This record gives sequence, structure tokens and C-alpha cells, in this order.
Amino acid sequence: MSTAWDYAPAPEARDIVKIQERYGLFIGGKFVEPGSGERYTTIDPAREEPLSEIAQAGKADVDRAVRAARDAFANGWSGLRPSERAKYLFRVARLLQERSREFAVLESLNAGKPIRESRDVDVPLAAAHFFYYAGWADKLEYAFPNRKPRPVGVTGQIIPWNFPLLMLAWKIAPALAAGNTVVLKPAETTPLSALLFCDVLRQAELPPGVVNIITGDGRTGAELVSHPDVDKIAFTGSTEVGKAIQRNLAGTGKRLTLELGGKAANIVFDDAPLDQAVEGIVNGIYFNQGHVCCAGSRLLVQESIYEAVVAKLKRRMATLRVGDPLDKNTDVGAINSKQQLEKITALVQSGVDEGAEIYQPPCKLPERGYWFVPTVFTNVAQSYRIAQEEIFGPVLSVLTFRTPDEAIEKANNTPYGLSAGVWTEKGSRILAMAQKLRAGVVWANTYNRFDPASPFGGYKESGFGREGGRHGLEPYVVLDDA
Ligand code: NAI
Ligand code: MG
Repeated sequence: MSTAWDYAPAPEARDIVKIQERYGLFIGGKFVEPGSGERYTTIDPAREEPLSEIAQAGKADVDRAVRAARDAFANGWSGLRPSERAKYLFRVARLLQERSREFAVLESLNAGKPIRESRDVDVPLAAAHFFYYAGWADKLEYAFPNRKPRPVGVTGQIIPWNFPLLMLAWKIAPALAAGNTVVLKPAETTPLSALLFCDVLRQAELPPGVVNIITGDGRTGAELVSHPDVDKIAFTGSTEVGKAIQRNLAGTGKRLTLELGGKAANIVFDDAPLDQAVEGIVNGIYFNQGHVCCAGSRLLVQESIYEAVVAKLKRRMATLRVGDPLDKNTDVGAINSKQQLEKITALVQSGVDEGAEIYQPPCKLPERGYWFVPTVFTNVAQSYRIAQEEIFGPVLSVLTFRTPDEAIEKANNTPYGLSAGVWTEKGSRILAMAQKLRAGVVWANTYNRFDPASPFGGYKESGFGREGGRHGLEPYVVLDDA
């Protein structure tokens, strides 16, 4: 007789979401048919089942959306009293809270992320961003003392699939607070929460054209980037596409912010509380299946505690529950797409081929859908691809160091510079490390913590510009002399 205590399934009911068979493009405050006539199917990556038919916006559709945004900018929104703008943002924030369960279930269905995360992280943080920037809308002169801030104009925003609703909130909230209008393109694999968000905009009675949502793949994104009447582009996604956008915009005078990839070091010193650190390591790399630009994908452990940390980590990994994203007990959900699963699989194979030692806990994966077992590599050399390239999956590479200087050198030995983690009992060491780490965000004795008041963004190939906090308003304002 088995003495193990198994978890009973605890699935969240999915009938709270009503997914339409097909969606149009949200332009000028209503859904319109794509002029392109093209559609594609969006799926549930955990079941490989179709969810809905999504419009693929073409050049003329992009133009229509930009014109709607321009009209809305010129005829009302940019001249609205700032306190009135704030009211709309507060409404959106409250509506997201009221409909949070619906958004969480939909996000998990379309993105494959565990309901525990969409419910406790993605949706509440998205609402928090709208609340936060609602507060700034009528206080912009205080954000930029002695300057006269005015909006940039029509902003084109392109977001990825790892945090679909949250990235939408990061982009739209500051843009609207500063008086801009928006054309936003969600990622092709995860459009559904953005399309549900259009209903929130309707409920909030946001004036037509202030926010337009156009769906489609990279071709739609490229059309938006090169549209002559867009004043600013905000992009989050791969470094490769970010570079292409930057080349495309060179010399046009359009503004640009880029939030790109990462290969963050999570650094554990020998005086760190080890059990707490192991929780932080797990949260750093297995949160959201590792589809996180700031994931702590390179673990740097001080040599004297290496054995202990790796042993504790492996024990903890064996307790991670991988499976149905809608089950409330699930820790690690589905990989977002077949394409991403192939990329992870290939990079993991390269790690094995180059000579790293792989560990994967015993784990029964569902038969259908896209899955990857949480993986840790030890015996990793800095030159290996798994130590250099962004895997964007639940795969951790462990390296060691002896001195703080060596930790800094190894941590900074990457083309990226988005985030880092430091685990130590010593406050002075935290400050010294944070100063020398070339990373936009440094977490101390925690990892993957987000707050709307705190700026987020990168160095080097992780991009430029900040989102969140007062800094997050800057890309959306032109500052004239007072
Ligand atoms: P991607 O950069 O191609 O996609 C991100 C967004 O950009 C999507 O909305 C996409 O439709 C759009 N896009 C694609 N090509 C475009 C173009 N030429 N012009 C304008 N917009 C364009 O990322 P993808 O292909 O989904 O993932 C590839 C790798 O990129 C991942 O394996 C991961 O390593 C990295 N990535 C990093 C992210 C981050 O937050 N740092 C987010 C997504 C991917
Ligand atoms: Mg791509």
C-alpha cells in the first residue's frame, strides 16, 4: 500500500470565461473585420486544442488603427483635464479587480501558466499598474519638476507572450496617464486577455480610439513599427527583433524603448540562509516555466556551500508539480508554444553535448500539450551555450565562485544586463554587489519581485528605457522648459 499523500486534482472552473469563436480587431472603440481577410487559430498549449480564430492585421488594418489613435489624440484625449484621464485609469484598474478570476482563467488557458500565478501575480499586478499610473496622471508636473510635460502622441506598443495581460498594463497605463493614445499588438500565441481587455475599456467608457488592439504576428508588428504617423514604439520581446526595430527606426525621429532578453545571475554567498535561498532559486527560474526575461537562469554559488545548495535544490525540485495550468496545485505549467518547446529542447541538448551534467526530477508529464521537466545543469563552463544564451524555459545552469570579485566578473560576463539576485546576510555586501552588477534590477535575498512603483529595464543587449515608477513615465512625455 502506498503511504504517499497524493494531491487530489483541484481544477479551477473554466466556465467563467466566454471565448468567442472568432475575434476582429479593436479599432476606434469597436471590433471590426480585418481588411486582410486573414485569420489564424490560437490554442491552449496545455491541451493543444483550438480556442478561437484570431485576426491577422495587415498593412491597411494597421493604418486604420493608427488613424483612429491619431483622431482620438487630436480630438479630445490629449487635451482632457488630467484628473479626468485619471478617472478612466482608476476605472480600468477596478474593473480588472472585479473581473480578476475571469482574466486569470483566460490567461492560464491561452498562455499555459499556472492559475496560481495568473491569479496571484499577473492579474493583481496588472490592476496595480493601472492604479499606480492613475495616481500620476494629474501630478506630472511633480514627476518632472520645473519642466512642462506634454504627451508624445500616438504610441505603438508590441508585447510578448510570457505575461500577456501584465505587459499590456505595463505599456498602456503610463502611456494613457501621460495623455498619449495607443495601438497595441499582443503576441500571436496569446491574444485572448488583450481582447477581453477591450471589453473592460468598453465598460470603463474610454473614448473610442484612445486604445486600439490589433492582433497578428511579427508582420503586423513590423507594419506598426514602420507606420509614419506613430510617434513612439515600445517593444518587449527578443533581442533579435529589438535590434531589427532599432535599425528600422534609426534616423526617423521616432522614440523607442526596448525591453529585451536576459541571462541573469542569481548569486548565493556562503552566509546566506540556504533554505530561503533555495526557494528564491526555484522561484527565480521555475516561475512561469522560466518564460521570464529577468529569470535567474545562471546560479552562481560560492564554492564552500556548493554541495549543500545543489543537494537542497534537487530535493526541492522533486516536489514541484508540473501539469494542468488550471489546477490550483500546479507549480509549473505548459510551455507556451511548440516553437518555444523546440528551442528549449535544442538548447538543453547542447548542454548535454557540451559536457554539462543534467538533472531532472522524476516527473510524469501529460500526454498532450507542450511540457518540459524542470531541469538543472551542473558542471557548466561559462562558454557553454546554456550559460550564454537565453533559454526562456525551466532550465537552470549552476556555476561556482570563490570571491565576491569573481562573482561580479562571472555575473557581468554576458551580453545582457536586465537583472540579478544576491543572497547574503551582510547588508554592506548587498550594496557593494548591487553597485558593481551591470543589471537594471538587483534583488537582495528575494527574486522575481515586482512592484509598479519600482523601475524595471536593462543594460547592454537587454535594451534601454525603464518601465514602472516615475521613470516609466519618461518615455511617454516630451519635456518643455517651464
Ligand atoms: P519575438 O521577439 O519574435 O516576439 C515578441 C513580439 O514581437 C511579438 O508580439 C511578435 O509578434 C512581435 N514581432 C516579431 N517580429 C517582429 C518584427 N519584425 N517587428 C515588430 N514586431 C515583431 O519573440 P519570440 O519569437 O516569440 O521568441 C523568441 C525568443 O525571444 C524566446 O525564445 C525568448 O528567448 C525571447 N523572448 C524574450 C522575451 C522577453 O521578455 N525578454 C519575450 C519573448 C521572447
Ligand atoms: Mg520571433
